[in-house]
Amino acid sequence: MAIRNVRKMGDPILRKRSREVEKIDDRVLEILNDMAETMYDDNGIGIAAPQVGILKRLVTVDIRDEDGLMKLINPEIIESDGETIDVEGCLSVPNFNGTVKRPQHIKLKYTDENSKENIVDLYDLKARCVCHEIDHLNGVLFVDKYIEEVKFEEESDD
Ligand code: NI
Repeated sequence: MAIRNVRKMGDPILRKRSREVEKIDDRVLEILNDMAETMYDDNGIGIAAPQVGILKRLVTVDIRDEDGLMKLINPEIIESDGETIDVEGCLSVPNFNGTVKRPQHIKLKYTDENSKENIVDLYDLKARCVCHEIDHLNGVLFVDKYIEEVKFEEESDD
């Protein structure tokens, strides 16, 4: 496993559409492991492959709940409803936070690392996080859709 360099806003790779993963091989599994390690190292709750410079439809998420780490291959929202507005940040957009409108509930289809297809219902923060990461796979950043900037008192570069 290795911590990878996180691409920052302005890097053109963040604006490209990622490709579907057709074969779940050792390389894909290694990328997912590296993404998770990079996400934890940066204290993030989610990361998408283009953020580490790879245009594949891969996402890792861990909102520190009972599900723990989720590795999503070709994630796809097949249904959504409700509406919530809350603050977001992004590892690719340091020192900026803003409110974004997202669905309160999504039905998510994805393939896991054992090549099994899953359909799960996600709510609130986890739904928000997955929507944010799937946006990354389509070259969209939360700064494209934020409603209002939110400033926090203490900002640190550490
Ligand atoms: Ni992000």
